[in-house]
Amino acid sequence: MVGTKFTAEAIRGMKQRGEKIAALTAYDFPMTRLLDEVGIPLILVGDSLGMVVLGYPDTTQVTVAEMEHHVRAAARAKPRALLVADMPFHSYQNVNSALENARRLVSAGAEAVKAEGGREIQEQVRAIVECGIPFLGHLGMLPQHVQEEGGYHIKGKTNPEHAALLADADALTAAGAFGIVLELVAPSVARELTGRVPIPTIGIGAGANCDGQILVTPDLLGMLPWYNLKHVKPKLNAAEQMREVVKEWKTGVETINS
Ligand code: KIV
Repeated sequence: MVGTKFTAEAIRGMKQRGEKIAALTAYDFPMTRLLDEVGIPLILVGDSLGMVVLGYPDTTQVTVAEMEHHVRAAARAKPRALLVADMPFHSYQNVNSALENARRLVSAGAEAVKAEGGREIQEQVRAIVECGIPFLGHLGMLPQHVQEEGGYHIKGKTNPEHAALLADADALTAAGAFGIVLELVAPSVARELTGRVPIPTIGIGAGANCDGQILVTPDLLGMLPWYNLKHVKPKLNAAEQMREVVKEWKTGVETINS
């Protein structure tokens, strides 16, 4: 892809210039290349990988080795987009493990890392940023905690959740994050956070008033008809189209010379 490389600084600058950020996930070479050809500025190798590619029930079982494998594949597309990798569950419990695993993902080709949480991971975030790795925060519904939470719920509707989100966003900003994903945050709180922090907010199921939006690409393309998601209406029914093409091809093969 020709054009200036998107860095973490460039993504940050988009907020200052009032430009909306359209971000998507990719887990391999062809999807990264396709998204990059369209000019998507930030591509996330998300640990949603666990559910949408590896068939786990949630993201909690994804390992650093699995992330490295997919980051390597995505990085081979040499995107102009900033390539961000998720740090899997339990890979950033303390500063040492956070640094070691962030470096592993960068060696695999990631240009920034993302992890879930706010004040409780502030020291890890600071250490990652100080060693030169751009960091993207993730607040609101934290999929790595879905088992304790008992499902995917909107965050920020109660006063304590609202106050916690503000404090967590401030902590991530102070630690040097270049942006924050807001997942399933009540839209009024997402709007308030967007006005409060100087770094971009990138929403998923958090309303329209964020600095950008991110989606899990297979959800956008309708590749996973087995899940019913409230926050995304697929723009394509790829699963059905694939079934039809395969069925037609199968029939063609089976009826040759018969
Ligand atoms: O893992 C992922 O794909 C994510 C997005 C939902 C933001 O974290």
